[in-house]
Amino acid sequence: MTTDPLVLFTPSGKRGHFPVGTPVLTAARQLGVDLDSVCGGRGICSKCQITPSYGEFPKHGVTVAEAALSEWNKVEQRYDDIRGLTKGRRLGCQALVQGDIVIDVPPESQVHRQVVRKRAEVRDITMNPSTRLYYVDVEHPDMHKPSGDLERLIEALETQWDLQDVKADLHILQSMQPVLRKGDWKVTAAVHLGDEIHPPTIMHIWPGFYDGSIYGLAIDLGSTTIAAHLCDLQTGDVVASSGIMNPQIRFGEDLMSRVSYSMMNKGGDQEMTQAVREGMNTLFAQVADEAEIDKALIVDAVFVCNPVMHHLFLGIDPFELGQAPFALTSSGALSLYAKELDLEIHPTARVYILPCIAGHVGADAAAVALSEAPDKSKDLMLVVDVGTNAEILLGNTDKVLACSSPTGPAFEGAQISSGQRAAPGAIERIEIDPETKEPRFRVIGSDIWSNEDGFADAIATTGVTGICGSGIIEAIAEMRLAGLLDASGLIGSAEQTGTSRCIADGRTNSYVIWDGSEEGGPNITVTNPDIRAIQMAKAALYSGARLLMDKFGVDTVDKVILAGAFGAHISAKHAMVLGMIPDCPLDKVTSAGNAAGTGARIALLNTKARTEIENTVRRIEKIETAVESRFQEHFVNASAIPNSAEPFPILNSIVTLPDVNFNTGGGEQSGGRKRRRRRE
Ligand code: FES
Repeated sequence: MTTDPLVLFTPSGKRGHFPVGTPVLTAARQLGVDLDSVCGGRGICSKCQITPSYGEFPKHGVTVAEAALSEWNKVEQRYDDIRGLTKGRRLGCQALVQGDIVIDVPPESQVHRQVVRKRAEVRDITMNPSTRLYYVDVEHPDMHKPSGDLERLIEALETQWDLQDVKADLHILQSMQPVLRKGDWKVTAAVHLGDEIHPPTIMHIWPGFYDGSIYGLAIDLGSTTIAAHLCDLQTGDVVASSGIMNPQIRFGEDLMSRVSYSMMNKGGDQEMTQAVREGMNTLFAQVADEAEIDKALIVDAVFVCNPVMHHLFLGIDPFELGQAPFALTSSGALSLYAKELDLEIHPTARVYILPCIAGHVGADAAAVALSEAPDKSKDLMLVVDVGTNAEILLGNTDKVLACSSPTGPAFEGAQISSGQRAAPGAIERIEIDPETKEPRFRVIGSDIWSNEDGFADAIATTGVTGICGSGIIEAIAEMRLAGLLDASGLIGSAEQTGTSRCIADGRTNSYVIWDGSEEGGPNITVTNPDIRAIQMAKAALYSGARLLMDKFGVDTVDKVILAGAFGAHISAKHAMVLGMIPDCPLDKVTSAGNAAGTGARIALLNTKARTEIENTVRRIEKIETAVESRFQEHFVNASAIPNSAEPFPILNSIVTLPDVNFNTGGGEQSGGRKRRRRRE
């Protein structure tokens, strides 16, 4: 039996016996414990911090004496004096094993640390980035042993870090000699660890120990907006986030108008490619400025986008995506160089683009699948990414189905008479009293309801400017609940509803939410054409989801996840009253925020997730809504509010939907609750 001291690591539980004098970092490496190091045990980087524990550990059968580790040394003292070391911490490369010891590796010292995601129900991200920093001692040149500086640098990476077959980009050759000499043959190298196609490659070298970090971008390239998260590739932290409008908007608001622009104008696709790439560079400069870092430190970027954006960003004519059978040039994931896409970040920065699912279901939907992982859920999960096009996923561990449905821009406030994008001054929440039919609302930028004291002051700078997407959904659902709107989507007249807020508007009626005309502001109403636009959008969304349910052979789902920036603000109850989503317990309807952006961040920080999503996408079954006759049938039924063919029993147990019908142009009114047979 060995008499060498026992070294036990937590939280991994890995243990082994090591001779007295073994550095804790060495013990960790030999046991495969996840303990970080950039300087390779030279006491420079401080990444190897550990917390030793002393005393009795009956659970592990260990007693740890005070002298179980070597004494605090000069290197640790110097680090503590300059940077400060948390009390109780030691540097794992400096502390030597003297007796049995229990060592805790704190999360920030783990190479594959978990980046905690805010929502409890989702998995954390395991750090495993494409590019890492390595500090090495390079052998000096020797006339008697002729070899190039690069060869000795590569040899150092192999012997000191076990990196095999490392290559270097040309710009490294062009710049390395002065760097090696300046650092007295000690350098820090940023090495891209390679993938199936590319070998590990030195991307950058700094003289001596480089104390900074390297960065990556996770980009959600949408048709309307482009959002970027700048992440620290060592910690996983998001250090800056920013967004811009997609500059391609000037060529057409929606995807199909951009495809037609490229069909009608020679070179139109190239104009749009240039516009989006220029926009991207503006955005990258913006995030780098915000984080106060040099753009050249951005070494990796992951993109998610819909198929049309995908093609236009890559410089591919999207012509084939505008017509059946909607063939993609390539549906696979792409690993490229940023300079091939004219992106002004590190000269040899890499780009990874997630795979597309189908001609209508893009890399953004793949990113949602990566973030929400329906394929790993026991519960049957419906994930809806609400945007100009809704991407819909339905699945569990058995299988996952996907489709996209053309919802149009109504949910984003477009095509709505008082609609606007979500911005200060836009109505985002609304309630209508079912008795008095009076509304009260809140605008973005203020927490005060319109019927509360202080509202006028709260909106003094923004005013009340319009209704955003989530506001219009609440407005219509509240109108339905208050008996101002019938199931077919008709707004009642003042006589029918008993409120002067319902005003005649041509051959139909409108409901006045806010009349700011006396102060020169807008008159904010919900008109019948607004209702129609939302009915079309929500029917497209619902029928896509329902079609996937048919294909799955189910009538109900266990969970609904609303993704997308807009999805984050939708109230579950109102979405269900409207009939946007299937009947489901309200507490099972949750919002995932920008799940596509999160998927991009996961793929950026964890290269293993890239392989995972590529495999998942291959297994996802794609459903093309355009060729499914059931889609039309569901669409017609889903145009009613909430639906003319489906009962919504859970919803009906929570709310009472007034049984009104305004189609006859008149009728009895009883306390605001007309009782008529609902049109089927
Ligand atoms: S490994 Fe760098 S300080 Fe210990």
